[in-house]
Amino acid sequence: MDDNSPAVEVRGVTKRFRDVVALGGIDLTVPRGTVLGLLGPNGAGKTTTVRVLTTTLVPDEGSARVLGVDVVRQPDLVRRSIGLAGQFAAVDEMLTGRENLEMVGRLAHLERAVARTRSVALLERFDLAEAGNRMVRTYSGGMRRRLDLAAALVHRPPVLFLDEPTTGLDPQSRNNLWDVIRELVAEGTTVLLTTQYLEEADQLADRIVVIDRGLVIAEGTAGELKSRLGATVLEVTLADEAAAARAETVLTSLAALGSGAERDGPLVRLTVDEGPRAAMAALRALDGDGIAPAGLALREPSLDDVFLALTGHKAEEGTVPDQPAAAGRSRRSGGLH
Ligand SMILES: Nc1ncnc2c1ncn2[C@@H]1O[C@H](COP(=O)(O)OP(=O)(O)O)[C@@H](O)[C@H]1O
Ligand SMILES: [Mg+2]
Repeated sequence: MDDNSPAVEVRGVTKRFRDVVALGGIDLTVPRGTVLGLLGPNGAGKTTTVRVLTTTLVPDEGSARVLGVDVVRQPDLVRRSIGLAGQFAAVDEMLTGRENLEMVGRLAHLERAVARTRSVALLERFDLAEAGNRMVRTYSGGMRRRLDLAAALVHRPPVLFLDEPTTGLDPQSRNNLWDVIRELVAEGTTVLLTTQYLEEADQLADRIVVIDRGLVIAEGTAGELKSRLGATVLEVTLADEAAAARAETVLTSLAALGSGAERDGPLVRLTVDEGPRAAMAALRALDGDGIAPAGLALREPSLDDVFLALTGHKAEEGTVPDQPAAAGRSRRSGGLH
């Protein structure tokens, strides 16, 4: 393996399923020891990207490498250094948690004793020690995800792929899983994480790549993506929509305020560079026209604002959970083949 290559490198990857272009030419780089958040709505191409990188799908064009190893030319070598945990926990319902982990360890050619020791340690770490001897079919959704993630770690992969790891989990289980992911990263694991949740990318990722319809539409740190919109969002709330329409006209004519105003019911929103100065200018202009705002707020742009500005639609809007791959267990790559 090449010691200087990035953990993950994707160049010009395309993938088509009959008439559907799932990936239209994707470039990605994940430096070692960092977390990349691959953010996009349902159907954007996140799972397809992960499947190419975890060697379960061969791209039509382009190349992909993990730790410098080509995923098409040397898939076996790639599988040894990666772990995959996903939206649909690939665990065996009829085995106990411990048996699941030991089986994964055995399939990764670990000695029985090593597989056992690691399984016990992972159950402990993921707060599953007590449930370890129970059949998985008695586990909650959050427990299954934690077990699935534990299973991806049995062979201690340096690169981890997490495909929507917290989709469908309650907030507490999501927070627990975030803590575990942060710990793994602190230990030096490289993570490529896909998510539809802007907050998740914001919380966990060093860099974010936004994809939509199989194309990269933006990338940067969460801060960089937000600052593209201007430093601050100024929101003025009016008494009613008629007043808001008048305020919109007044504020749009204030060139000094940065971008044009945009109306949302009784609310008028502007992205501005200097919040307090813009707020004063806005209030003066409104007052000059006899319009009294009911409320005024300055806030940091959220990734939601960014996504909306980039794509014209909200990230989590109108999404339907996709279906588990028919291949079932084989979705996990680490050491299972
Ligand atoms: N095996 C497949 N056969 C046909 N179409 C597929 C298949 N896998 C994915 N697609 C299509 O490719 C596009 C991207 O899918 P996917 O990578 O699963 O998106 P995401 O994970 O971001 O929701 C979607 O339009 C999806 O319907
Ligand atoms: Mg997916």
